[in-house]
Amino acid sequence: MKIAVIGSGYVGLVTGACFAHLGHQVLCIDNNLEKIKLLRQGKTPIYEPGLESMIHKCVKEGKLSFSSNIVQAVQKSEILFICVNTPPKENGEADLSFIETVSREIAKNLKEYRLIVEKSTVPVQTGEWILKTIQSIQPNLSLFDVASNPEFLREGSAVKDFLKPDRVILGVESPRAEKILRALYKPFSSKIVVTDLKSAEIIKHASNSFLATKISFINAVARICDVVGADIEKVALGMGMDPRIGPSFLKAGIGFGGFCFPKDLSAFLHMSEKLGAPFELLKESLKINSAQKYYFIEKIEHHLWNLKDKTLAVLGIAFKPNTDDIRYAPSLEIIDVLQKQGAHVRVYDPQAMANARKVLHGVFFAKNPYEAVKGADALIIVTEWDEFKSLDFKKIKKLLKQSIIFDGRNMFEPEAMQRLGFQYHSIGRKAQEPRSKRSSR
Ligand code: UGA
Repeated sequence: MKIAVIGSGYVGLVTGACFAHLGHQVLCIDNNLEKIKLLRQGKTPIYEPGLESMIHKCVKEGKLSFSSNIVQAVQKSEILFICVNTPPKENGEADLSFIETVSREIAKNLKEYRLIVEKSTVPVQTGEWILKTIQSIQPNLSLFDVASNPEFLREGSAVKDFLKPDRVILGVESPRAEKILRALYKPFSSKIVVTDLKSAEIIKHASNSFLATKISFINAVARICDVVGADIEKVALGMGMDPRIGPSFLKAGIGFGGFCFPKDLSAFLHMSEKLGAPFELLKESLKINSAQKYYFIEKIEHHLWNLKDKTLAVLGIAFKPNTDDIRYAPSLEIIDVLQKQGAHVRVYDPQAMANARKVLHGVFFAKNPYEAVKGADALIIVTEWDEFKSLDFKKIKKLLKQSIIFDGRNMFEPEAMQRLGFQYHSIGRKAQEPRSKRSSR
């Protein structure tokens, strides 16, 4: 099939590359000329495992190309995926102006039937607006359909998620649209769920909101564990074995970040209020999430006393492992607060250093974890990169000024850290101090 993907951001690029990989003819569009230039040179603007090699392969096979010309996309492709950005406004509402602009551009160039599919995460009723917008310019309704096909890929495992989806949601309003999308998603036919357009839009916002709420729920429980000296990892294990609850997204830590959960929760909340059906629970989820970062910072202050002129090593800047994305990353707020308290911050991240340099000021950018911890009063773990699991902690201990670790992602066994001689603080698990210190009390 001939497909155009309009908007070559995270979702757009992965969608385009994966459809090309599945054998379709794909044209990826973006109005950022620099990005198109980069992509044409075979470089990806984001770090995502497996994406760059897939793009290379598909470009070489002539299945994937890039352009900034949306007219070309409408002329050549039967299916047009809208994957443009829907950034949050100040009040949390999604800014849909890019979607409107693209809808108008499509409408102006509609000559033959086209299926317009929204893939960007959008509030319910956006599809209706796309339809109305196109219709106001091209009133011939037989020339187009609007459908919703939300994407559920996660950064860091996006290619895998796309090619092995849990479900494929097709929100359609006509048999023709359903037929086309069913044919496109034939390799995943057993996973297809067909709904109306509005239900599909809600599935996406409700799924992200539910998952984010699950994280806030476990973080709230973790704080209770901290108070009484229980173990959140064990609590989550015990809860997650109930199939009605499930084990995933029960990892306590410093809360969720990234460009999806915080933005989508706010947008869903805003939309619910606008519709007169306010979803107050989401307010609490957001509140817990925001407080969780400060809870972690308070732990650091509690054990280090004054932060002024203390040196702190922060490992991990990306909002999660296997990505270079730092949008809404908890690290940024945490580092900002530490700096405001007068601490000297040394940072390291396996992939996000280039992005970090653009937004972090006054920090020392280390070449590796060992350089980051050199002379620091404490090591603070913010992102659970695999690379950190295999660190040489004997070496770390020698390099640190004080053997203190604050682990915001519960990466390590408290007992093991204690045996290595660290004072180890994590989330929702008993603080561990070195044996010698304990026994001398
Ligand atoms: C999320 C959803 O998981 C995807 O299904 C969805 O397609 C995507 O948003 C989107 O809307 O585009 P993503 O933001 O890439 O994906 O990352 P997640 O793996 O969901 O993690 C989000 C945040 O939650 C991260 O900061 C992560 O550290 C945190 N998290 C996740 C926890 O704190 N605990 C957990 O148990 C799981």
